[in-house]
Amino acid sequence: MPGEFPNVIVFDHPLIQHKLTYLRDRTTSHRPFRALLYQIAGLMVFEATRNVPTRPVEIETPMEMTVGRRLSAKITVVPVLRAGLGMAEGILEMMPEARVGHLGIFRDERTLEPHAYLKRLPRDLDAGPVLLVDPMLATAGSSLAAIRMLRDAGARDLRFLCLVAAPEGIRRVTKEHPEITIYTAAIDRCLNEKGYILPGLGDAGDRLYGTE
Ligand code: PRP
Ligand code: URA
Repeated sequence: MPGEFPNVIVFDHPLIQHKLTYLRDRTTSHRPFRALLYQIAGLMVFEATRNVPTRPVEIETPMEMTVGRRLSAKITVVPVLRAGLGMAEGILEMMPEARVGHLGIFRDERTLEPHAYLKRLPRDLDAGPVLLVDPMLATAGSSLAAIRMLRDAGARDLRFLCLVAAPEGIRRVTKEHPEITIYTAAIDRCLNEKGYILPGLGDAGDRLYGTE
């Protein structure tokens, strides 16, 4: 299936798949769920930031002078509340210098339409890569709304990290934004009649915060 989606990078790494399987398991309670989401996001960020700009810096080791590299762009992590927060924390552990913007979006469970209720973003979003994070890409209503808000706010280098993506959602994002790379741990089978991903992992926000 990845051949059908050239703009999607699927993490088939054994460690990520191992952790994802625990995440999917219905007997995994919110405490280990939170830890797993955090850990997987931390692992994914290595690939998602592979080509971010760096600049040479001269430093002195205990032995001699040398030239190393430091990040030169302002990287912004933007979680979609609620469930994206769990991923953002794992990413910040790896990249504490990143800035954080917040987008609050929930989807109406009846119409599946997204509703935005919060937007707090840095002013200069165009100063570097923006990592949009939300574990679930289902109908893509929420992620398309988030992408639109980020583009309107000036984001240029935009990358989307999720954990589980439905083919239906990937097709919609790709059609509207073929320039965006989607990083995901899995491409699942399909959506059910209520817009939930199959096999999926259920409602990510509820499982993360124990509100089922
Ligand atoms: C979930 C998930 C995504 C969205 C995906 O959030 O975290 O944001 O659904 O579905 P879509 O692709 O069909 O839009 P939800 O709306 O349940 O909000 P919550 O995390 O606040 O519960
Ligand atoms: N949102 C979720 O949290 N899970 C799904 O399967 C679909 C949308």
